[in-house]
Amino acid sequence: MTPGTHLRRRPFPTAVGAVLLLASSLLAVGGPAAAGPAPAPRPAAHWTFDEGAGTVAHDSSGNGHTGTLVGAGAGWGPGRIGPDSLAVTPQSSVDAPAGIIDTTRSFSVSAWVKLTSVAGYQTFVSVDGGNLSGFYLQLRADTGTFSFTVPTADSITSGGAVASAPWTPSTGVWYHLTGVDDLAAGQVELYVNGVLQAEVRVSGTWPATGDTAIGRGYYNRGQVDWVSGQIDDVQLFQQALTGNQVCGLGVGLDGSCAPTPATLDVNGAQPGPAVSPSLFGSFLEDINHSVEGGLYGELIQNRSLMAATTPDDWSAVTGGAGQASIALDPGHPLNSALTRSLRLSVGTVGAGSRVGIANDGFWGIPVHPSTTYTASFSAEASTRLTGPLTVSVEGTDGTVYATGTVRGLGTSWRQYSVRLTTARSAPDTSDARFVISTADPAFAGTSVWFDQVSLFPPTYQNQANGLRVDLMAKLAALHPAFLRFPGGNYLEGDTIATRFNWKDTVGPTDQRPGHLDDAWGYWSTDGMGLLEYLEMAEDLHAQPVLAIWAGYTLNGTVVPADQLGPYVQDAVDELQYATGPVTSYWGAQRAADGHPKPFPVSTVEIGNEDFFDASGSYNDRYTAFYDALHAAYPSLKFIATTPVTSRPYDLIDDHFYSPPAWFDANSHYYDSYPRTGPDVFVGEFAAQSGVPTPDISAALGDASWLAGLERNSDVVRMASYAPLLVDVNDVTWPTNMIGFNASTSYVSPTYYAQQLLAQRHGDRVLGVTTSAGAQLQTVATRDSRTGTVYLTVINPSPLAAPATVKLTGLGRLGRTATVTVLAGTSSADTNTITDPNHIHPVSSTVHGLGSSFHRDFAPYSMTVFTIPAG
Ligand code: AHR
Repeated sequence: MTPGTHLRRRPFPTAVGAVLLLASSLLAVGGPAAAGPAPAPRPAAHWTFDEGAGTVAHDSSGNGHTGTLVGAGAGWGPGRIGPDSLAVTPQSSVDAPAGIIDTTRSFSVSAWVKLTSVAGYQTFVSVDGGNLSGFYLQLRADTGTFSFTVPTADSITSGGAVASAPWTPSTGVWYHLTGVDDLAAGQVELYVNGVLQAEVRVSGTWPATGDTAIGRGYYNRGQVDWVSGQIDDVQLFQQALTGNQVCGLGVGLDGSCAPTPATLDVNGAQPGPAVSPSLFGSFLEDINHSVEGGLYGELIQNRSLMAATTPDDWSAVTGGAGQASIALDPGHPLNSALTRSLRLSVGTVGAGSRVGIANDGFWGIPVHPSTTYTASFSAEASTRLTGPLTVSVEGTDGTVYATGTVRGLGTSWRQYSVRLTTARSAPDTSDARFVISTADPAFAGTSVWFDQVSLFPPTYQNQANGLRVDLMAKLAALHPAFLRFPGGNYLEGDTIATRFNWKDTVGPTDQRPGHLDDAWGYWSTDGMGLLEYLEMAEDLHAQPVLAIWAGYTLNGTVVPADQLGPYVQDAVDELQYATGPVTSYWGAQRAADGHPKPFPVSTVEIGNEDFFDASGSYNDRYTAFYDALHAAYPSLKFIATTPVTSRPYDLIDDHFYSPPAWFDANSHYYDSYPRTGPDVFVGEFAAQSGVPTPDISAALGDASWLAGLERNSDVVRMASYAPLLVDVNDVTWPTNMIGFNASTSYVSPTYYAQQLLAQRHGDRVLGVTTSAGAQLQTVATRDSRTGTVYLTVINPSPLAAPATVKLTGLGRLGRTATVTVLAGTSSADTNTITDPNHIHPVSSTVHGLGSSFHRDFAPYSMTVFTIPAG
């Protein structure tokens, strides 16, 4: 599969996810019903498809909704219920009259289906609207699973709810599907064979008043989603069926619709590949203010006044009789890099008044008790002024939390610095701003220019120009094996001018012009430049994976091969800056910048997502960069972003963004991947459900996916989730691993899922055989030194999954094991900035598990067993 295309082929599923996620945080959820059979209510329509001949399908409900077989491929086959069923191929269906059910009220739909192909979208039952179907009981192409899809409105951009089974069906097998749209509960549900598969929240209804269709759907004003297979016993109900009623529709007449207990056989005698030591890494790019205003410690927004042609984020302070105004002044550059400054034009400063400038930071300035900030700025005045400037962090109500003074403004630029400390009694808040002001009447009638106005809180490991402590602590606790940076789209830029031009990001910060992060819509000062990214990797003890800009931008600009020379040289220089001896030109620059020791960059990625380059130039561009870099650094490893034929590459970078059900169903994606070519780097992946951070359903999709990557460690060598960070005030990208605001941060269920997998594994994969039909995803590993066995079991379904776990060929098993569970109570259960610890792993000790034990895996859960053995 071409990475990313499953998201883009058809816009509707993506929008569905996003709207669903937004809706999901607003509504309450009911638990899954216990499933024992109960009589179903009278259907509004019921096609048994037992005619066996002709083109008429009678409605046995007595309501007279006779269907008509349409298309040459519509006919008859052996029945699942009764003697016959409807047999359909593409371009054929059964059309029944309009108005059988009202889609603005609760309803249910059920059908038996047996497929001859599980490719593409196939809709079994639907009702036509103006643009879309009112619902689709279907197989989805993007997830490969059965789903009940209910659009929120009759528009392809409106979104909706998608309740999907977390597993891929087989051809040639009869399945019973029921979709329930329960407006009272505000959710839609999908049952397969009477077992609840998913329940997702939804808002908004609309009347789909067209024909009822069996064997197709309706999308973008066209008939689509043709079915290849058989359909039997279709029923429509004008009410939300309960779990017991679904069970009673014929699937549970044996007495129960409870899930069949699974068996999981962990076999020590069937060791798999060695676990890739570099599998679990991180990827950082400046998106959602991840870096600027986030990880990068600077608290002042637009500190260098280069972000806009107006003094954005700055305001004049005028208290009492003080009069002053501010303006952006291109006539007073600080230097050739920072070509504009902020002019404070003072009118009057009377007794008891003040004038000055204020900056609101990135959605506030964080205040915490007993905290020391370092404030600095450059300033010059229209005349010498000896009076003090007061530098402070103040509440928006005027409360002064920390303050200091500087003196002696001259008529040429000078840098000032002062430390500000909050009291022990200071609150934790971000309802504050940064102010430089004066109450000195001598300032009346003068102008003062400011530039590179900076405020740093304490930083990680107290580094100057450093990183935010809480975010770095969270990243460090993931122990990433590598750090891929600086992008992503951020690397590429929308244009050549706005790419990550590394040479503009090194040296003193007031010599860095900054650039527009036009991929994500804000200014980057480049205070976090190449050196800081490399130092971050060093601080995390992670291998730096340096992404090299490779002559292609997001707006489709391609640098022609004969003009690539300067950019290729930039790349060679970049490697020299990172890895060269201090005697080299760029190595000496690095030393002058404060880091004489070379960084251990052994792997570079050439470009980003070059499969989007429709011109097909990547092969040639890769060649140019490869040849120069390989000649200069023969041991360098190369990552290609899409296959090339011109030169070798060590890894291919695959990217995946999809709904959780896709990841649940594709845990085995790499099982059949060729082992004869370059290895795989899954440089970006995310199960997308939850805004701004993933909910438990997404975390379990991510866990199922990572489990599959770990099982395939012989070919998948590295993986990193994306995006890593989001300021909850700037959610440009919907689903991100760690959320923060100016003063606090939290981790998502996906963070915990990755952390559990990354920290609880051995060095050798073990085979796990799972009984047919089990909805559980697993990975088992063993520590060959200690013998400890790690077994991770993921249950993404809304029902507890009973299973018998057997451990064979593992020698003597220790009596005491640790069981760690990460679980939610509904698919949308999650952590938020105001409820940061809602979902977290809980560990317990269990005694005497033995070589065979029973476990009910909780709904929406991930369970990790750590079992001593030897
Ligand atoms: O992770 C967000 C974006 O997704 C990355 O910048 C890009 O590489 C991908 O399209």
